[in-house]
Amino acid sequence: MIKLDANENPYRPPADLCAKLADFSRGLAYNRYPDKTYRKLRESLALYSGWPAEKIIAGNGSDELILLLLLAYGGPDSKLITVEPTFTMYNHYAQATKTALSNIFYNKQGARLTFPKAEVEQAIENCQQGIIFLCSPNNPTGEIRSRQWLEDILTATELPVVVDEAYYEFSGNTAKELLADHDNLIILRTLSKAFGMAGLRVGYLLAGRDICNMLEDLRSPYNINRFSAGAAEILLQAQKHYQACWEKIKEGREWLYRELEAREEIIVFPSQANYLLWQTDKLSEEKVYQSLLTKGVKVRYWEELPLFGQALRVSVGQQEENQKFINSLDEIIKEVR
Ligand SMILES: Cc1ncc(COP(=O)(O)O)c(C=O)c1O
Repeated sequence: MIKLDANENPYRPPADLCAKLADFSRGLAYNRYPDKTYRKLRESLALYSGWPAEKIIAGNGSDELILLLLLAYGGPDSKLITVEPTFTMYNHYAQATKTALSNIFYNKQGARLTFPKAEVEQAIENCQQGIIFLCSPNNPTGEIRSRQWLEDILTATELPVVVDEAYYEFSGNTAKELLADHDNLIILRTLSKAFGMAGLRVGYLLAGRDICNMLEDLRSPYNINRFSAGAAEILLQAQKHYQACWEKIKEGREWLYRELEAREEIIVFPSQANYLLWQTDKLSEEKVYQSLLTKGVKVRYWEELPLFGQALRVSVGQQEENQKFINSLDEIIKEVR
């Protein structure tokens, strides 16, 4: 099965890095609890991100950090302000913490999507207590929020504003420079995507001291296991290797976009991440999804994506995988013509 459904990095670490991981794992004190401050991991993340280690919190995947943020800032008297469709875990943990949802949606006309800036600004102005989650690039739509607009929002409110940059390395665009002047900004990132560590679960966030202290109080002391913390330190040293992967993934994304756009049966949305959202014209998305599965290609399918209805998302794979996906799609299009 070619797996293009979860926005993972299609590249495994090269042999020399795997050997380093194996050496590290052999010497590990599995019987001992990890360092609960995971100082070395935070230092590695500080070196990579350019933000001080004492203002970084790591989580068991960034999913865990989303939960901590909603535990800290959500609840029955609070509101989650976000724009649908976006990453589902924001709503999921908002519901778990009884946080009210803002119900703001993108505007969609054919293949043109616009972000409802004015509605978001209004919702923020009307909100006394809550948290704002903006995903940039947004999963699943793929576009980014401009730094200028984020700065305007951060200046206009004291509510915490999370900019989820899970796919930052594929866009090169970050709000990190705004951290120094805005105590209410939280940059959420992960090693799952760019560093191919989805199976090891390490996410992190960059924020001011007060927010970090608040989250530190909520975090389970041993939330990052010894192996994952050490593996992250090793993989973060191999930035050159991963940068080359990001370039290949970005080329793959542009290639896939051109291929999909060239097919009249497909509507595809431009993306700055490692995936593309698409719909079909005259064909059923569900049938295309099922037919792709029978041909050994798994993409993400939604029966009811907010605003879109049926929709599909393909992650960028290695070029042979991208080619196989397009060939399979062409066979399906031919079959129904
Ligand atoms: C936008 C976004 N944020 C956060 C995550 C969670 O990533 P992880 O828990 O693997 O760090 C994902 C995963 O798909 C995502 O798409």
